[in-house]
Formats: sequence, structure tokens, C-alpha cells
Amino acid sequence: MENFEPIIVAFCCHFCAYTAADLAGTMRLQYPPNIRIIRIPCTGKVDVRHLLEAFEKGADGVYVAGCLEGDCHYLKGNFRAKKRVTLAKQILEDAGIGGDRLEMYNMSAAMGPRFAEVAREMTEKIRKLGPSPIKKSAEPKAQSAERKAESAERKAESAEGKGHSA
Ligand code: FES
Repeated sequence: MENFEPIIVAFCCHFCAYTAADLAGTMRLQYPPNIRIIRIPCTGKVDVRHLLEAFEKGADGVYVAGCLEGDCHYLKGNFRAKKRVTLAKQILEDAGIGGDRLEMYNMSAAMGPRFAEVAREMTEKIRKLGPSPIKKSAEPKAQSAERKAESAERKAESAEGKGHSA
């Protein structure tokens, strides 16, 4: 677990968190490279399905970062996102994946340092929680598929070798 580097997907609103991430970069603020940013027009576009799919596809942690409450350019997008995050957290908890792996944050475009802080906070938290249980259960299957592929490769190579000697 010591060498575990989590993959964290951040759904960032174009008007705030995405711009804050840009600002953090411009300010040369350090934050962990574990964050994979997905730019969205408003957090109201994020559905429960998108959040769960991120975990299915290998994320160890996910967060949604939207405008400050009352500042959403589409008025209620961030409130909708908040409700969906709460619902998805419950689903993750019930499924044994852990609701703590998902969070919602609010920030303005001017909050570059806050963006970096959230990225560090989430990375630390997910590092402590460890790899997503979805990944753990998929690992033996992936390893067995890898072994099968290696064995097929070896067979093909040995057949080739025989072909050459004949
Ligand atoms: Fe940023 Fe809606 S426009 S959360």
C-alpha cells in the first residue's frame, strides 16, 4: 500500500474549478499529479451514472468541483450536482466501495490555491483509503488474462521456432 498512487477523477466546471486549476498552474502551485480533470460546462451536467462509471473504469476517488453556491451560471446546476453526489455516495457505500471516495467541492475561478489544496486533500484521503475495491476484485481476472496472453505468446514463439528448424 506504501507505493499506492491513486487515480482521482475530478469533474470540474468550466467557469470555476477548471479556471482555478489553470490559475493554480499559472501560479506554479504544486499539487499531486494523481488528478485527472474532466472539464464540464456546469456540474449540473454530471449524472450519478457518470460518477459511478468513473469508479468502474478504474478511479480510486472522484470529486465534483463546481461554482460557489449561488454563483452557478445555470443557476441551480451545483445544487443538482450536490444532490447527485449525495445519492452516488450512498450507492457507493451500499455497494461496499465506500462513499468517502466521492466528494463535492465549491470554489470560484479565483481560488487557484484552493484548487491545489483540494487536490492534495483528496489525494491524501484516497491514499489512506487504499485502492478501490472494484480494482482489487478485477485484479485477479486481469492477472489471469495476462498469464493466458503470455502463455499464448510463448506457444506461438515455440511454434515459430519449430517452423524455422524444419
Ligand atoms: Fe459552474 Fe454551474 S456553472 S457549477
